[in-house]
Amino acid sequence: MSEAGPAARPAAAPDRAATRRYTVAIAGATGVVGGTVRAILEERAFPVGELRLLASERSRGAQLAFKGAPVEVQVLEPGAFDGVDLAFFAAGGPVSKEFVPQAVAAGAVVIDKSSAFRADPAVPLVVPEVNADHLARHKGIIATPNCSTIQMVVALKPIYDAAGIERVVVSTYQSVSGSGKRGVDDLDRQAREWAAGQACSNGFYPHQIAFNLLPHIDSFLDDGATKEEQKMVDETVKIFGDDDIRVTATCVRVPVFGAHSEAVNVQTRRALPADEARRLFAAAPGIEVVDEPAALRYPMPLDAEGTDPVYVGRIRDDDTAPNCLNFWVVADNLRKGAALNAVQIAETLVAKGLL
Ligand SMILES: NC(=O)c1ccc[n+]([C@@H]2O[C@H](COP(=O)([O-])OP(=O)(O)OC[C@H]3O[C@@H](n4cnc5c(N)ncnc54)[C@H](OP(=O)(O)O)[C@@H]3O)[C@@H](O)[C@H]2O)c1
Repeated sequence: MSEAGPAARPAAAPDRAATRRYTVAIAGATGVVGGTVRAILEERAFPVGELRLLASERSRGAQLAFKGAPVEVQVLEPGAFDGVDLAFFAAGGPVSKEFVPQAVAAGAVVIDKSSAFRADPAVPLVVPEVNADHLARHKGIIATPNCSTIQMVVALKPIYDAAGIERVVVSTYQSVSGSGKRGVDDLDRQAREWAAGQACSNGFYPHQIAFNLLPHIDSFLDDGATKEEQKMVDETVKIFGDDDIRVTATCVRVPVFGAHSEAVNVQTRRALPADEARRLFAAAPGIEVVDEPAALRYPMPLDAEGTDPVYVGRIRDDDTAPNCLNFWVVADNLRKGAALNAVQIAETLVAKGLL
C-alpha cells in the first residue's frame, strides 16, 4: 500500500465547504516558506478557524502573528495533528517522511512542500494553473513541486496546449531564499563582510555565494547532474502526464535574495512563432508578460520579489533548430514557487469540495 492511503477521499458537499472554517497546521512555521504560507493564508482570507504553528524544539514558545494576534509555536511531535483538517508541510523531507503519514492518519489533508512524496505515483503533484484536475485523485497527500519547476510549468502550459512540447532546455538562476533561512543568512553576512573589507565566512553553502555563482543545487547524482536538475525533469513529466517531454536542466545558485529566474529554450511539436507565443502567455492564468526590450522592460527578480505572477519576457524565435523558442521566466520562489502554490491548492480543494 502506498503511504498515501488506500482510497481517494469522497468529495464534501459544496454548500458545506463554502461555509466551513478549517483547523490548519503549518509544519515548519518558523521557516521562510512556512512564514510565507502564514502570510498568504491571511492575505487571501483562507477560512482558517484555528491555526496551529509547528516547528522544532528550538522554536518552542516563540510567538508569531496571525490576523493581528500572537500564536504560540508548538513542537512538532506525535499528536500534533489531532483535530487538524489541513496541514501544510514546509520542514524538509525527513520531517515530512516521519510526520505526514501521522497527519493523514489523524484525518488531515496534507499539502507537502518537500520532495518526500513527489515521485509517489499515488500522490498528485499539482500546480493549479496546469493540472488542478489531478487533485480529484488525492488520498490525503498532495505534493507541490520544486520552486524551479513550478514557474517553468506555468509558463510551458499555454505552449504545451497550443503546440505540444518536444524538448525543453532550461538554465536557472536561483535565489538564496530557495535554500531557506540559512541561505539568506549566508548572503546577508557575506555581503556585510565584503563591504567591511573582511574575508567572507562560509556557512551553509560550500563556497562564498556573495558576488559569486554556484552551479550546484542539492547533491550530485552518479550521472553528473544534481538532484535539483533531475527534479525539474521528473516533475515536469509527471505534472503534464506526458512521458515524451524531454527536459534538460542546469541549476545555478546566484547572489539574489528572492525570486528565481530561468532561461528557457523550448522545441514545440508544431510551429509556434514568438508573436503567437506572446499572445498565448498574455492570456494564460498566472502569467504576466513583461517584454518591451526597446523600453528596457523585462522580468527581473527585484521586481518579482513579493509578488504573485510568473513573469515572462525576452520571448523570441530560435532559428537554430526547428520549432524553437527562447524566453525568460521570473517568479518569487517563496510565493508562487512554494507558499502561494500550496495555498492555491488548498483553495482549489475547498472550491471542489475535496477537503
Ligand atoms: N525556500 C524555498 O524557496 C522553497 C521552495 C519550494 C520548496 N521548499 C521546501 O520547503 C521546505 C522548507 O524550506 P524553507 O526554505 O522554508 O526552510 P527553512 O527556512 O530552513 O525552515 C525550515 C523549517 O522547518 C523546521 N524544522 C526543521 N527541522 C525540524 C524538525 N526536526 N522538527 C520540526 N520542525 C523542523 C524549522 O523549525 P526551527 O525554526 O524550529 O528550526 C523551520 O520552521 C523544504 O522541504 C524545502 O525543500 C522551499
